[in-house]
Amino acid sequence: MKSVTPYSSLAVVYDAVMAHVDYEAWADYILHLIDEFGWDGESEDAPSPTAGMQVLELGAGTGLLTEELLAQTDWTMLVTDGSSPMLAVAKVRLNSLDSLKQRIRFQDLDFSTPWEVAGDFDCQLLLYDGFNYLLDTEQVENLFASVKKAGRPRGLLVFDQSTPHNSINNADFFEDDGEKGALRYHRKSHFDIEIGIHTTEFEISGPDGVFQEVHRQRAWTRAQVIDLLAQTDLEVIASLDGFSLDPAHDESERIHWVVRLPG
Ligand SMILES: C[S@@+](CC[C@H](N)C(=O)[O-])C[C@H]1O[C@@H](n2cnc3c(N)ncnc32)[C@H](O)[C@@H]1O
Repeated sequence: MKSVTPYSSLAVVYDAVMAHVDYEAWADYILHLIDEFGWDGESEDAPSPTAGMQVLELGAGTGLLTEELLAQTDWTMLVTDGSSPMLAVAKVRLNSLDSLKQRIRFQDLDFSTPWEVAGDFDCQLLLYDGFNYLLDTEQVENLFASVKKAGRPRGLLVFDQSTPHNSINNADFFEDDGEKGALRYHRKSHFDIEIGIHTTEFEISGPDGVFQEVHRQRAWTRAQVIDLLAQTDLEVIASLDGFSLDPAHDESERIHWVVRLPG
């Protein structure tokens, strides 16, 4: 078995691993959040805040959510990820859709170190646990500082996170198998509650051999993220429990954050 970096071998089976996720509903929810919380003092008859936006997506993976968001909007998007193999799958998916490809650009981008992109984005997205790949406070500070530079004044950042409650409450789902074409994957996770690290091991086997990826993610608590945001001049507009419009609380398993950049 050969050890490889996260998302290098997984990229080709990622869509199968995520087959249970309703990305269309997730896109609906994100658009609803922007509609509900994205207004910035405009009059009620102003156009929807989602109209005509320039959007930067961080950690876009294979573009599953991106496709749904583009299908439901007129957005122009810069689609980024730190894994070239994941982004390669996203390019194939999104460039195959003639109606969408005029509205997208792609870029390899590691959001854990200081980064810069060309553009002045109305909204930035980091969804489905990308935030949890940030392992220490310095990496989170890098993310928030770089987001601030990439966004227009009073632009939005929408991101989500898993909390320790997600890792603790869902331990029954920590092992599974699946396949895509000639490839098979086995996934096994464990959560170290003392250090707050959720580790997932993937074994991906196929005609080229067996590859192992070890993914380490930090299960940030809600309080930790509140503290990290409080050290910035980003304004928290909403922090929501799961996929609801209810406020997040100390036992939320997943939190969606809607944050406004300074003016
Ligand atoms: C669970 S996947 C989510 C992908 C996509 N957002 C989705 O909803 O399917 C997490 C993604 O974050 C990316 N990622 C993790 N750490 C990263 C980093 N430091 N910089 C950029 N991308 C990163 C991974 O390559 C992977 O594509």
